Amino acid sequence: MDIALETITLEKLIALLNMDLELEYSAAIQYINHAAVMTGAAYGDIIKELKIHANEEVQHAMILADQIDYFKGSPSVNVGEIHTSQENTEMLQQDLDGEEDAIKRYKLRVEQAEERKEFALAQQLRNILATEQEHAIDLKQALGK
Ligand SMILES: [Fe+2]
Ligand SMILES: [Fe+2]
Repeated sequence: MDIALETITLEKLIALLNMDLELEYSAAIQYINHAAVMTGAAYGDIIKELKIHANEEVQHAMILADQIDYFKGSPSVNVGEIHTSQENTEMLQQDLDGEEDAIKRYKLRVEQAEERKEFALAQQLRNILATEQEHAIDLKQALGK
């Protein structure tokens, strides 16, 4: 007899999407904060990018909240952890850490959605993942990595 791999329950998937949602809220707030406090002429271009990122994180939050509602969950109104600093490069590193964490989470989340044959959700998560990868590239560039 085959041993089927256990598919993630819908409840568990909703809980994970809610964690992702909370981290999208915190990413948006963190970017707004960093764009406001970052200083120096050399940082003008990345400051503009951070503002674009903030808007994109809000869009991700809206997509996740709609998906959670679609699955009859309650979209969280809690905000995840936010990091800030008085140093430009430290802020950029905090943002990059957040993006790398998001990339890891969304790769897993795409797989979990597909396990449940929730292909529309998986597609939305793939789009979010692609944006987080672009965010990470912008930050690495600004950090000279
Ligand atoms: Fe995001
Ligand atoms: Fe992002």
